[in-house]
Amino acid sequence: MKVRFGPRKVAQMMESEMSTSVFTEPATLGRTGLKVGRLGVGASYGIDAAPLERAFHEHGVNYFYWGSIRRRGMRDAIRSIAKTDRDKLVVVLQSYDRTGALMRPFHERGLRALGIDRADVLLLGWHNSYPSRRVIDAALALKDAGLARFIAISGHERPLYARYAEEAKRDPSASPFDILMFRYNAAHRGAESEIFPHLDDSPARPGVTCYTATRWGQLLDPKRMPPGERPMTSAECYRFVLSNPKVDLCMTGPKNAEQLDAALEALAAGPLDEDEMARIRCIGAHVHG
Ligand SMILES: NC(=O)c1ccc[n+]([C@@H]2O[C@H](COP(=O)([O-])OP(=O)(O)OC[C@H]3O[C@@H](n4cnc5c(N)ncnc54)[C@H](OP(=O)(O)O)[C@@H]3O)[C@@H](O)[C@H]2O)c1
Repeated sequence: MKVRFGPRKVAQMMESEMSTSVFTEPATLGRTGLKVGRLGVGASYGIDAAPLERAFHEHGVNYFYWGSIRRRGMRDAIRSIAKTDRDKLVVVLQSYDRTGALMRPFHERGLRALGIDRADVLLLGWHNSYPSRRVIDAALALKDAGLARFIAISGHERPLYARYAEEAKRDPSASPFDILMFRYNAAHRGAESEIFPHLDDSPARPGVTCYTATRWGQLLDPKRMPPGERPMTSAECYRFVLSNPKVDLCMTGPKNAEQLDAALEALAAGPLDEDEMARIRCIGAHVHG
């Protein structure tokens, strides 16, 4: 049977094929100068190597966070991509070390497993108070040894991020943190008043990456919506985060190719418009409440 499409359908199809938006362009990750696709992928939820490699080659997804759990799928994708395109990959390795002594051996073990000489980002994970001198010195030593190019920090205490941002503004060379990673989503919007105003637009400011865009999947859950409201799509969750001009990159945690494809729709769709933003802010307030 021959299928005929009208001109409007054909136009729609062509548009979706060629879809680009400001989110399909790479961002500069603050003072690191690294060029990154706007979605970063975390390994923890178990995504396989093949969809990761496709996302790298076809969508410019290049921020590969091999943590919080170091899974095989992402390891294999990094090993494969690094053979030809190491300079385009941004590999993030995490350390939860609080002693300073365990950071280097764990980091080196990660590099060996990935078959690379250095990580692009060493992420100091889950710091809810200012990291100790021991931890900062161990991280700087890895940088000096050429085993990591930049240092990122993650945690939940928003006032600390205001402090990191202000420190970096006062004296970038004295501030160890090149990238700030914190929670921001439609339900958790505290960063809008507590962190973003402390970040200026200068090239010396730290890069900004955000996590829990879906609020552990809750923003996608029909049972948690206001009455009569359809749930957010995962792409809407990532678009909400990336619509904030202070955010360079949003993390996504797909467990399979379908979830990654759904996330990638955020890139072609671009920033939320006013009506979408208003709807999503209502949903976020309801879910938070
Ligand atoms: N260092 C830190 O401080 C820190 C903090 C938070 C997160 N992380 C890491 O950052 C990475 C990203 O985590 P995240 O929490 O920001 O990721 P996320 O993408 O906001 O959340 C992943 C969750 O969203 C659900 N999901 C995603 N796509 C979906 C889709 N298309 N349809 C339905 N459900 C979907 C998954 O649910 P199901 O699993 O039920 O399918 C999963 O529970 C991970 O590697 C994580 O370990 C690090």
